[in-house]
Amino acid sequence: MAETDVAKTDKVIIFDTTLRDGEQSAGAGLTPDEKFRIARQLQKLGVDVIEAGFAASSPGDFEAVQRIAREIDGPVICSLARAVPGDIDAAWDAIKDAKRPRIHVFLSSSEIHMAHQMRKGAEDILGMAVDAVTRAASHCKDVEFSPMDATRTDPEYLYRVLEAVIDAGATTVNIPDTVGYSNPVEFGALIKSVFERVPNIHKATVSVHCHNDLGLAAANSLAAVENGARQVEGCINGLGERAGNASLEEVIMALETREDHYGTKSSINTEEIGPSSRLVADLFGFAIQPNKAIVGQNAFRHGSGIHQDAYLKERTTFEIMEPESVGWRGEAIVMGKLSGRAGLRSRLGDLGYELSDEELADLFPKYKGLADQKREVTDFDLQALMSEQHRFSETDQQYRFEGVKVEAGDMVTPSATVTVGLPNGESKTVTAQGTGPVDAVCKAVDQIVEPKCNLTEFAVASVTDGIDAIGEVTIRVEDADGHIYAGRGGDTDIIVASAKAYINAINRMGVLGPDQTNITFTE
Ligand code: KIV
Ligand code: ZN
Repeated sequence: MAETDVAKTDKVIIFDTTLRDGEQSAGAGLTPDEKFRIARQLQKLGVDVIEAGFAASSPGDFEAVQRIAREIDGPVICSLARAVPGDIDAAWDAIKDAKRPRIHVFLSSSEIHMAHQMRKGAEDILGMAVDAVTRAASHCKDVEFSPMDATRTDPEYLYRVLEAVIDAGATTVNIPDTVGYSNPVEFGALIKSVFERVPNIHKATVSVHCHNDLGLAAANSLAAVENGARQVEGCINGLGERAGNASLEEVIMALETREDHYGTKSSINTEEIGPSSRLVADLFGFAIQPNKAIVGQNAFRHGSGIHQDAYLKERTTFEIMEPESVGWRGEAIVMGKLSGRAGLRSRLGDLGYELSDEELADLFPKYKGLADQKREVTDFDLQALMSEQHRFSETDQQYRFEGVKVEAGDMVTPSATVTVGLPNGESKTVTAQGTGPVDAVCKAVDQIVEPKCNLTEFAVASVTDGIDAIGEVTIRVEDADGHIYAGRGGDTDIIVASAKAYINAINRMGVLGPDQTNITFTE
């Protein structure tokens, strides 16, 4: 049995790649601080492996991987690397202080990728794979190898590659369905054949990494588990390149709910699924569709009268999981105008936020302001308030929203007067006109800030039901080089939320901008 750093048990190892493949989602981009916050939540969730990033891809990613490796204890911390010496050494540099480091090397193995992406023959690729794994194993005893586009690779060649990399020191071999091409029957059979045809396969853990181009990523991952795979890779909320990766929460809860069928499960703290999902949605700026399995707002709501009637008589008539088991807290009314600091601190503690005295002192007036505006303050409102608080402390060092006044409607030319705090501590107020109030707000902000950008996406969602709900605005802007940055803002007034979101996007552009790279394999 291989000496991997993840104990080789019969449980399913959960490998989270939200911070790597998830960050490859078009329009995504996290600051090192945001990545760290997600890693801390993944630690609470109890994932076995955190793929913290791709250290060689940019200085910012290196920094994020290194900080996670140094400060997050428990999970294996992994960095991705192309099969080239510079990447492998950078990955090792970034993770070497982790208690349990892993290097994950990938290299294309399908004919179509070898011919067009790599422009190399099969024997050269095999040699590169062995050299890369040998180098990674000289640094680190835990090495994962991924033959990219495995499901479109000639199976005989795939078996040869897997055997060779295991001999070279790979302790996990990952079978990626890189383009989401496979289906459960075919993918299950491929995994079965890997066990039958790779002579030294018992020395490694077999992993799978499925993309969701045909909506089959979770089903394919589960078919692989049925056929012996014991590591599943995926992302929270199904984020990832193109249509995303397998939704980890779906795979985890399928194993949990149908252990009778799969005969195995993960060791995830499932109550942390909800908080993890909300944090990832918030920091990535990708809202969760209401009917999304496990974590969507409607996942545990019963609409039909017939269902409601039966559910009230016996919950299991229409519920296969307990909502609380995935951290679903419903819309419990928790706080009001009269609640004090201790009540606020205690409720936030229940929601997973530990506040210092200074943080509480800073937050309390904002909470009171909200409680004055709203009839009732729910858990979701509190979470929105905390998101707002973090946004300002982490990325809004540059420009600060200070105030906005608009004139709008179809009887005037919409205009906005916006006051923004500048990096030098001063404030500036500008009035501008636009096609509507949000356009006017953005035009006014544009006259204050540097660098300039284009607004490409604007979406409003309400955090809770009701006319007095907090509105969460997500804005995406594009810089002169075509890079996209998300910004979020929340307020009971959506014009205020829009101004905050736009300024947040501009600040994030300032933090992330110089760090964006677009590396290819042949560099
Ligand atoms: O989809 C893929 O093949 C990947 C590899 C790097 C594992 O993300
Ligand atoms: Zn992938």
